[in-house]
Amino acid sequence: MLLWNKGFEPDRMIEEFTVGRDRELDLMLARFDVEGSMAHIRMLESVGLLGHDELPVLLDALADIKAMIERGEFVIEDGVEDVHSQVEFLLTARLGDLGKKIHSGRSRNDQVLVDLKLFTRHELALTARAVNDFFNLLLELSDKHKDDLMPGYTHLQVAMPSSFGLWFGAYAETLVDDMQLLVAAYNIANQNPLGSAAGYGSSLPLDREMTTRLLNFASPHYNVVAAQMSRGKTERAAAVGIAAVAATLGRLAMDVCMWMCQNFGFVSFPDELTTGSSIMPHKKNPDVFEIMRGKCNRLQSIPNELTILNANLPLGYNRDLQLMKDILFPAFAEMRSCLELASFMLRNIRIRKDILDDPRYDYLFTVEDVNRLVLQGVPFRDAYKQVGMAVQEGRYKPTREIHHTHIGSIGNLATEQIRAKMEPLMAAFRSAE
Ligand code: ARG
Repeated sequence: MLLWNKGFEPDRMIEEFTVGRDRELDLMLARFDVEGSMAHIRMLESVGLLGHDELPVLLDALADIKAMIERGEFVIEDGVEDVHSQVEFLLTARLGDLGKKIHSGRSRNDQVLVDLKLFTRHELALTARAVNDFFNLLLELSDKHKDDLMPGYTHLQVAMPSSFGLWFGAYAETLVDDMQLLVAAYNIANQNPLGSAAGYGSSLPLDREMTTRLLNFASPHYNVVAAQMSRGKTERAAAVGIAAVAATLGRLAMDVCMWMCQNFGFVSFPDELTTGSSIMPHKKNPDVFEIMRGKCNRLQSIPNELTILNANLPLGYNRDLQLMKDILFPAFAEMRSCLELASFMLRNIRIRKDILDDPRYDYLFTVEDVNRLVLQGVPFRDAYKQVGMAVQEGRYKPTREIHHTHIGSIGNLATEQIRAKMEPLMAAFRSAE
Protein backbone atom coordinates (compact mmCIF):
# COMPACT_ATOMS: atom_id res chain seq x y z
CA MET A 1 0.00 0.00 0.00
CA LEU A 2 2.27 2.74 -1.24
CA LEU A 3 1.01 6.11 -2.42
CA TRP A 4 3.43 5.92 -5.31
CA ASN A 5 2.55 2.37 -6.40
CA LYS A 6 2.92 2.09 -10.16
CA GLY A 7 2.27 -1.56 -10.62
CA PHE A 8 5.29 -3.19 -9.02
CA GLU A 9 5.89 -4.22 -5.43
CA PRO A 10 9.06 -2.77 -3.90
CA ASP A 11 11.43 -5.18 -2.20
CA ARG A 12 10.45 -5.78 1.43
CA MET A 13 13.96 -5.15 2.75
CA ILE A 14 14.19 -1.87 0.89
CA GLU A 15 10.84 -0.80 2.29
CA GLU A 16 11.77 -1.59 5.89
CA PHE A 17 15.14 0.13 5.59
CA THR A 18 13.74 3.33 4.08
CA VAL A 19 10.67 3.55 6.34
CA GLY A 20 12.89 3.16 9.42
CA ARG A 21 11.21 4.48 12.56
CA ASP A 22 8.65 6.59 10.67
CA ARG A 23 5.66 4.43 11.58
CA GLU A 24 6.32 5.12 15.24
CA LEU A 25 7.66 8.69 15.12
CA ASP A 26 5.12 9.97 12.60
CA LEU A 27 2.40 9.34 15.19
CA MET A 28 3.66 12.50 16.87
CA LEU A 29 2.92 14.36 13.63
CA ALA A 30 -0.53 12.85 13.05
CA ARG A 31 -2.59 15.63 14.60
CA PHE A 32 -0.65 18.26 12.67
CA ASP A 33 -0.85 16.31 9.43
CA VAL A 34 -4.65 16.39 9.65
CA GLU A 35 -4.68 20.10 10.54
CA GLY A 36 -2.41 20.82 7.58
CA SER A 37 -4.69 18.82 5.27
CA MET A 38 -7.76 20.68 6.52
CA ALA A 39 -6.15 24.03 5.70
CA HIS A 40 -4.95 22.72 2.34
CA ILE A 41 -8.39 21.52 1.22
CA ARG A 42 -10.14 24.69 2.37
CA MET A 43 -7.69 26.52 0.15
CA LEU A 44 -8.22 24.08 -2.74
CA GLU A 45 -11.95 24.73 -2.53
CA SER A 46 -11.45 28.50 -2.46
CA VAL A 47 -9.45 28.40 -5.70
CA GLY A 48 -11.94 26.07 -7.39
CA LEU A 49 -9.96 22.82 -7.21
CA LEU A 50 -12.55 21.16 -4.94
CA GLY A 51 -16.33 21.49 -5.18
CA HIS A 52 -18.36 23.40 -2.51
CA ASP A 53 -20.19 20.16 -1.78
CA GLU A 54 -16.97 18.13 -1.60
CA LEU A 55 -15.20 20.25 1.03
CA PRO A 56 -17.56 19.55 3.99
CA VAL A 57 -17.50 15.80 3.27
CA LEU A 58 -13.71 15.76 3.34
CA LEU A 59 -13.54 18.02 6.41
CA ASP A 60 -15.92 15.71 8.27
CA ALA A 61 -13.83 12.67 7.45
CA LEU A 62 -10.66 14.47 8.52
CA ALA A 63 -12.33 15.57 11.77
CA ASP A 64 -13.15 11.90 12.45
CA ILE A 65 -9.52 10.96 11.88
CA LYS A 66 -8.45 13.75 14.22
CA ALA A 67 -10.80 12.44 16.91
CA MET A 68 -9.34 8.97 16.38
CA ILE A 69 -5.84 10.42 16.92
CA GLU A 70 -6.96 12.20 20.08
CA ARG A 71 -8.44 8.95 21.42
CA GLY A 72 -5.07 7.25 20.80
CA GLU A 73 -6.60 4.85 18.26
CA PHE A 74 -4.72 5.98 15.19
CA VAL A 75 -2.00 3.62 13.97
CA ILE A 76 0.20 3.51 10.89
CA GLU A 77 -0.41 0.05 9.54
CA ASP A 78 2.20 -2.41 8.40
CA GLY A 79 2.96 -1.82 4.76
CA VAL A 80 1.94 1.85 4.97
CA GLU A 81 4.95 4.13 4.68
CA ASP A 82 4.12 7.09 6.87
CA VAL A 83 1.44 9.25 8.47
CA HIS A 84 0.70 11.08 5.21
CA SER A 85 -0.05 7.81 3.43
CA GLN A 86 -2.14 6.47 6.34
CA VAL A 87 -4.38 9.55 6.41
CA GLU A 88 -4.89 9.43 2.64
CA PHE A 89 -5.66 5.70 2.74
CA LEU A 90 -8.23 6.20 5.50
CA LEU A 91 -9.88 8.92 3.45
CA THR A 92 -9.99 6.92 0.23
CA ALA A 93 -11.22 3.83 2.09
CA ARG A 94 -14.15 5.89 3.34
CA LEU A 95 -14.79 8.31 0.47
CA GLY A 96 -13.39 6.60 -2.62
CA ASP A 97 -12.31 8.96 -5.42
CA LEU A 98 -13.00 12.07 -3.34
CA GLY A 99 -10.23 11.06 -0.92
CA LYS A 100 -7.81 10.97 -3.82
CA LYS A 101 -8.36 14.67 -4.55
CA ILE A 102 -6.74 16.16 -1.47
CA HIS A 103 -3.16 15.80 -2.63
CA SER A 104 -3.55 18.24 -5.58
CA GLY A 105 -0.84 20.90 -5.50
CA ARG A 106 0.99 19.19 -2.65
CA SER A 107 3.87 16.77 -2.20
CA ARG A 108 4.81 14.78 0.85
CA ASN A 109 7.86 17.03 0.94
CA ASP A 110 5.88 20.14 1.88
CA GLN A 111 3.37 18.05 3.80
CA VAL A 112 5.96 16.62 6.16
CA LEU A 113 7.52 20.06 6.39
CA VAL A 114 4.28 21.74 7.44
CA ASP A 115 3.71 18.93 9.96
CA LEU A 116 7.19 19.48 11.33
CA LYS A 117 6.74 23.24 11.60
CA LEU A 118 3.45 22.85 13.46
CA PHE A 119 4.85 20.09 15.68
CA THR A 120 8.06 22.01 16.45
CA ARG A 121 6.10 25.17 17.19
CA HIS A 122 3.83 23.26 19.55
CA GLU A 123 6.66 21.41 21.31
CA LEU A 124 8.70 24.60 21.67
CA ALA A 125 5.72 26.34 23.27
CA LEU A 126 5.29 23.45 25.74
CA THR A 127 9.00 23.45 26.49
CA ALA A 128 9.03 27.22 26.97
CA ARG A 129 6.17 26.88 29.43
CA ALA A 130 8.10 24.24 31.40
CA VAL A 131 11.18 26.47 31.40
CA ASN A 132 9.08 29.40 32.59
CA ASP A 133 7.57 27.36 35.44
CA PHE A 134 11.03 26.33 36.55
CA PHE A 135 12.22 29.94 36.21
CA ASN A 136 9.40 31.09 38.52
CA LEU A 137 10.29 28.46 41.09
CA LEU A 138 13.96 29.52 41.00
CA LEU A 139 13.00 33.14 41.62
CA GLU A 140 10.70 32.13 44.46
CA LEU A 141 13.55 30.15 46.06
CA SER A 142 15.99 33.00 45.40
CA ASP A 143 13.77 35.32 47.38
CA LYS A 144 13.14 32.79 50.15
CA HIS A 145 16.87 32.12 50.61
CA LYS A 146 18.19 35.62 50.04
CA ASP A 147 19.81 35.71 53.47
CA ASP A 148 21.22 32.16 53.45
CA LEU A 149 24.91 32.59 52.81
CA MET A 150 27.31 30.12 51.28
CA PRO A 151 30.86 30.27 49.97
CA GLY A 152 31.50 31.47 46.44
CA TYR A 153 34.35 29.70 44.64
CA THR A 154 36.75 30.49 41.84
CA HIS A 155 39.12 27.72 40.66
CA LEU A 156 37.11 25.63 43.18
CA GLN A 157 38.95 27.57 45.90
CA VAL A 158 37.13 29.58 48.55
CA ALA A 159 36.66 33.06 47.08
CA MET A 160 33.95 35.48 48.29
CA PRO A 161 30.64 35.30 50.11
CA SER A 162 27.73 34.12 48.03
CA SER A 163 24.19 33.14 48.92
CA PHE A 164 21.55 30.64 47.94
CA GLY A 165 19.49 33.62 46.82
CA LEU A 166 22.23 34.56 44.38
CA TRP A 167 22.66 30.96 43.23
CA PHE A 168 18.97 30.33 42.49
CA GLY A 169 18.67 33.74 40.85
CA ALA A 170 21.73 33.06 38.66
CA TYR A 171 20.07 30.02 37.10
CA ALA A 172 16.81 31.93 36.68
CA GLU A 173 18.45 34.76 34.76
CA THR A 174 20.47 32.31 32.65
CA LEU A 175 17.19 30.69 31.61
CA VAL A 176 16.12 34.08 30.22
CA ASP A 177 19.05 33.87 27.78
CA ASP A 178 18.10 30.31 26.90
CA MET A 179 14.54 31.46 26.30
CA GLN A 180 15.84 33.93 23.67
CA LEU A 181 17.06 30.93 21.69
CA LEU A 182 13.75 29.09 22.12
CA VAL A 183 11.98 32.21 20.83
CA ALA A 184 14.33 32.41 17.83
CA ALA A 185 13.69 28.72 17.07
CA TYR A 186 9.96 29.33 17.39
CA ASN A 187 10.08 32.23 14.93
CA ILE A 188 11.96 30.07 12.43
CA ALA A 189 9.37 27.31 12.81
CA ASN A 190 6.49 29.74 12.56
CA GLN A 191 6.57 30.12 8.75
CA ASN A 192 4.36 28.32 6.27
CA PRO A 193 6.08 25.96 3.80
CA LEU A 194 2.82 24.60 2.37
CA GLY A 195 2.60 25.18 -1.38
CA SER A 196 6.32 24.61 -1.92
CA ALA A 197 5.20 21.07 -2.89
CA ALA A 198 8.14 18.91 -3.91
CA GLY A 199 10.34 21.97 -3.48
CA TYR A 200 9.66 23.95 -6.64
CA GLY A 201 6.04 25.04 -6.23
CA SER A 202 3.08 24.09 -8.40
CA SER A 203 1.42 25.18 -11.63
CA LEU A 204 -1.94 25.14 -9.81
CA PRO A 205 -3.18 28.56 -8.56
CA LEU A 206 -2.48 27.88 -4.87
CA ASP A 207 -3.35 30.57 -2.30
CA ARG A 208 -0.44 30.24 0.09
CA GLU A 209 -1.46 33.30 2.08
CA MET A 210 -4.75 31.62 2.89
CA THR A 211 -3.14 28.47 4.34
CA THR A 212 -0.75 30.75 6.27
CA ARG A 213 -3.73 32.44 7.91
CA LEU A 214 -5.62 29.22 8.54
CA LEU A 215 -2.66 27.58 10.25
CA ASN A 216 -1.80 30.69 12.23
CA PHE A 217 1.69 31.04 10.82
CA ALA A 218 3.42 34.43 11.09
CA SER A 219 4.09 34.46 7.33
CA PRO A 220 4.64 32.14 4.38
CA HIS A 221 8.14 30.87 3.81
CA TYR A 222 7.86 32.68 0.47
CA ASN A 223 10.59 31.27 -1.72
CA VAL A 224 9.69 27.64 -2.33
CA VAL A 225 13.33 26.55 -2.32
CA ALA A 226 13.99 28.47 0.91
CA ALA A 227 10.93 26.73 2.38
CA GLN A 228 12.42 23.33 1.54
CA MET A 229 15.86 24.38 2.78
CA SER A 230 14.31 25.15 6.14
CA ARG A 231 13.93 21.42 6.73
CA GLY A 232 16.93 20.61 8.82
CA LYS A 233 17.52 24.22 9.83
CA THR A 234 14.23 24.32 11.72
CA GLU A 235 15.13 21.19 13.65
CA ARG A 236 18.61 22.49 14.35
CA ALA A 237 17.35 25.81 15.68
CA ALA A 238 14.98 23.98 18.02
CA ALA A 239 17.80 21.70 19.15
CA VAL A 240 20.01 24.69 19.88
CA GLY A 241 17.27 26.11 22.11
CA ILE A 242 16.88 22.81 23.93
CA ALA A 243 20.65 22.42 24.28
CA ALA A 244 20.89 25.86 25.86
CA VAL A 245 18.34 24.95 28.51
CA ALA A 246 20.06 21.59 28.99
CA ALA A 247 23.41 23.30 29.54
CA THR A 248 21.89 25.44 32.28
CA LEU A 249 20.08 22.60 33.98
CA GLY A 250 23.02 20.17 33.70
CA ARG A 251 25.23 22.67 35.44
CA LEU A 252 22.73 23.16 38.23
CA ALA A 253 22.58 19.37 38.62
CA MET A 254 26.36 19.28 38.98
CA ASP A 255 26.29 21.97 41.70
CA VAL A 256 23.71 20.00 43.65
CA CYS A 257 25.71 16.75 43.37
CA MET A 258 28.78 18.52 44.67
CA TRP A 259 26.99 20.25 47.51
CA MET A 260 25.32 17.03 48.62
CA CYS A 261 28.81 15.53 49.03
CA GLN A 262 29.68 15.27 52.75
CA ASN A 263 32.82 17.37 52.19
CA PHE A 264 30.50 20.26 51.40
CA GLY A 265 27.22 19.29 53.03
CA PHE A 266 25.49 22.48 51.94
CA VAL A 267 22.22 20.90 50.78
CA SER A 268 20.27 17.73 51.43
CA PHE A 269 16.96 16.12 50.44
CA PRO A 270 14.40 14.00 52.26
CA ASP A 271 15.48 10.34 52.33
CA GLU A 272 12.79 9.24 49.90
CA LEU A 273 14.23 11.50 47.21
CA THR A 274 17.66 9.88 47.43
CA THR A 275 18.84 6.45 46.29
CA GLY A 276 20.75 3.70 48.08
CA SER A 277 23.60 1.28 47.54
CA SER A 278 23.36 -2.52 47.47
CA ILE A 279 26.47 -2.85 49.63
CA MET A 280 27.00 0.36 51.62
CA PRO A 281 24.16 0.69 54.12
CA HIS A 282 24.72 4.37 54.86
CA LYS A 283 24.32 5.67 51.30
CA LYS A 284 21.89 8.41 50.25
CA ASN A 285 22.95 9.15 46.73
CA PRO A 286 22.05 12.01 44.37
CA ASP A 287 21.14 9.72 41.45
CA VAL A 288 18.33 11.99 40.28
CA PHE A 289 20.76 14.82 39.66
CA GLU A 290 23.30 12.49 38.09
CA ILE A 291 20.78 11.12 35.61
CA MET A 292 19.68 14.70 34.97
CA ARG A 293 23.28 15.76 34.35
CA GLY A 294 23.80 12.84 31.96
CA LYS A 295 20.56 13.48 30.07
CA CYS A 296 21.34 17.18 29.80
CA ASN A 297 24.78 16.37 28.41
CA ARG A 298 23.23 14.09 25.80
CA LEU A 299 20.71 16.79 24.87
CA GLN A 300 23.61 19.14 24.24
CA SER A 301 25.00 16.79 21.60
CA ILE A 302 21.82 16.95 19.50
CA PRO A 303 22.58 20.16 17.55
CA ASN A 304 25.89 18.58 16.61
CA GLU A 305 24.27 15.33 15.48
CA LEU A 306 21.75 17.24 13.37
CA THR A 307 24.46 19.45 11.88
CA ILE A 308 26.48 16.46 10.78
CA LEU A 309 23.43 14.67 9.38
CA ASN A 310 22.52 17.78 7.38
CA ALA A 311 25.99 18.89 6.30
CA ASN A 312 26.42 19.63 2.58
CA LEU A 313 23.22 17.96 1.44
CA PRO A 314 22.43 18.94 -2.14
CA LEU A 315 19.67 21.49 -2.66
CA GLY A 316 16.11 20.13 -2.73
CA TYR A 317 14.56 17.28 -0.79
CA ASN A 318 16.79 14.36 0.23
CA ARG A 319 15.55 11.38 2.20
CA ASP A 320 18.38 11.79 4.76
CA LEU A 321 16.18 14.51 6.27
CA GLN A 322 13.78 11.88 7.54
CA LEU A 323 16.42 10.79 10.08
CA MET A 324 16.26 14.20 11.76
CA LYS A 325 13.04 13.01 13.38
CA ASP A 326 14.77 10.14 15.15
CA ILE A 327 17.17 12.58 16.78
CA LEU A 328 14.98 15.58 17.56
CA PHE A 329 11.55 14.17 18.39
CA PRO A 330 12.39 12.48 21.70
CA ALA A 331 14.44 15.49 22.85
CA PHE A 332 11.48 17.73 23.70
CA ALA A 333 9.90 15.29 26.15
CA GLU A 334 13.31 14.42 27.58
CA MET A 335 14.02 18.08 28.28
CA ARG A 336 10.65 18.58 29.90
CA SER A 337 11.00 15.52 32.12
CA CYS A 338 14.36 16.86 33.37
CA LEU A 339 12.74 20.23 34.14
CA GLU A 340 9.84 18.56 35.90
CA LEU A 341 12.15 16.47 38.09
CA ALA A 342 14.34 19.47 38.84
CA SER A 343 11.26 21.39 40.04
CA PHE A 344 10.12 18.46 42.14
CA MET A 345 13.53 18.10 43.77
CA LEU A 346 14.12 21.80 44.41
CA ARG A 347 10.72 22.14 46.05
CA ASN A 348 12.11 19.73 48.64
CA ILE A 349 15.67 21.01 48.99
CA ARG A 350 17.03 21.59 52.50
CA ILE A 351 19.63 24.26 52.86
CA ARG A 352 22.16 24.50 55.69
CA LYS A 353 22.01 27.93 57.27
CA ASP A 354 25.27 28.04 59.25
CA ILE A 355 27.76 27.11 56.54
CA LEU A 356 29.92 30.22 56.91
CA ASP A 357 30.41 29.72 60.67
CA ASP A 358 33.05 27.12 59.84
CA PRO A 359 36.54 28.77 60.11
CA ARG A 360 37.62 27.13 56.86
CA TYR A 361 35.59 29.85 55.16
CA ASP A 362 37.28 32.77 56.99
CA TYR A 363 39.14 33.90 53.89
CA LEU A 364 35.84 34.57 52.13
CA PHE A 365 35.87 37.91 53.94
CA THR A 366 39.28 39.26 52.86
CA VAL A 367 37.86 41.40 50.07
CA GLU A 368 35.20 42.77 52.44
CA ASP A 369 38.00 43.85 54.78
CA VAL A 370 40.06 45.36 51.95
CA ASN A 371 37.00 47.32 50.82
CA ARG A 372 36.33 48.55 54.36
CA LEU A 373 39.82 50.11 54.34
CA VAL A 374 39.18 51.54 50.85
CA LEU A 375 36.03 53.23 52.17
CA GLN A 376 38.16 54.74 54.94
CA GLY A 377 40.39 56.32 52.25
CA VAL A 378 43.23 53.76 52.05
CA PRO A 379 44.34 53.27 48.39
CA PHE A 380 43.17 49.85 47.16
CA ARG A 381 46.66 48.41 46.54
CA ASP A 382 47.83 49.37 50.05
CA ALA A 383 44.69 47.94 51.64
CA TYR A 384 45.13 44.74 49.59
CA LYS A 385 48.72 44.44 50.85
CA GLN A 386 47.75 45.06 54.46
CA VAL A 387 45.10 42.30 54.47
CA GLY A 388 47.31 40.03 52.31
CA MET A 389 50.18 40.26 54.80
CA ALA A 390 47.83 39.47 57.69
CA VAL A 391 46.71 36.32 55.81
CA GLN A 392 50.30 35.40 54.94
CA GLU A 393 51.46 35.76 58.55
CA GLY A 394 48.46 33.92 60.00
CA ARG A 395 47.12 37.06 61.76
CA TYR A 396 43.99 37.52 59.63
CA LYS A 397 40.74 37.72 61.61
CA PRO A 398 37.63 38.32 59.46
CA THR A 399 35.19 41.01 60.58
CA ARG A 400 32.42 38.92 58.96
CA GLU A 401 30.41 41.97 58.06
CA ILE A 402 29.01 41.93 54.56
CA HIS A 403 27.88 45.04 52.72
CA HIS A 404 26.85 44.24 49.18
CA THR A 405 24.38 46.77 47.90
CA HIS A 406 24.82 47.16 44.15
CA ILE A 407 22.29 45.67 41.76
CA GLY A 408 22.67 41.95 41.12
CA SER A 409 24.75 41.31 44.25
CA ILE A 410 23.89 39.20 47.29
CA GLY A 411 22.41 42.27 48.98
CA ASN A 412 20.28 43.32 46.00
CA LEU A 413 19.16 40.37 43.91
CA ALA A 414 17.04 42.31 41.36
CA THR A 415 14.47 39.53 41.34
CA GLU A 416 11.73 41.72 39.90
CA GLN A 417 13.98 43.04 37.13
CA ILE A 418 14.89 39.47 36.17
CA ARG A 419 11.22 38.50 36.18
CA ALA A 420 10.46 41.45 33.90
CA LYS A 421 12.98 40.20 31.33
CA MET A 422 11.18 36.89 30.91
CA GLU A 423 7.63 38.18 30.51
CA PRO A 424 7.87 39.65 26.98
CA LEU A 425 9.70 36.55 25.74
CA MET A 426 6.84 34.29 26.79
CA ALA A 427 4.40 36.33 24.68
CA ALA A 428 6.14 35.05 21.52
CA PHE A 429 4.64 31.56 21.92
CA ARG A 430 0.97 32.57 21.64
CA SER A 431 0.24 31.40 18.09
CA ALA A 432 0.89 27.76 19.03
CA GLU A 433 -2.12 27.68 21.37
N1 ARG B 1 9.02 10.15 5.53
C1 ARG B 1 9.44 11.16 4.64
C2 ARG B 1 10.29 12.23 5.35
O1 ARG B 1 10.23 12.33 6.53
C3 ARG B 1 8.27 11.81 4.01
C4 ARG B 1 8.59 12.52 2.74
C5 ARG B 1 8.83 11.54 1.67
N2 ARG B 1 9.19 12.19 0.48
C6 ARG B 1 9.85 11.58 -0.52
N3 ARG B 1 10.14 12.30 -1.54
N4 ARG B 1 10.18 10.32 -0.45
O2 ARG B 1 11.01 12.92 4.72
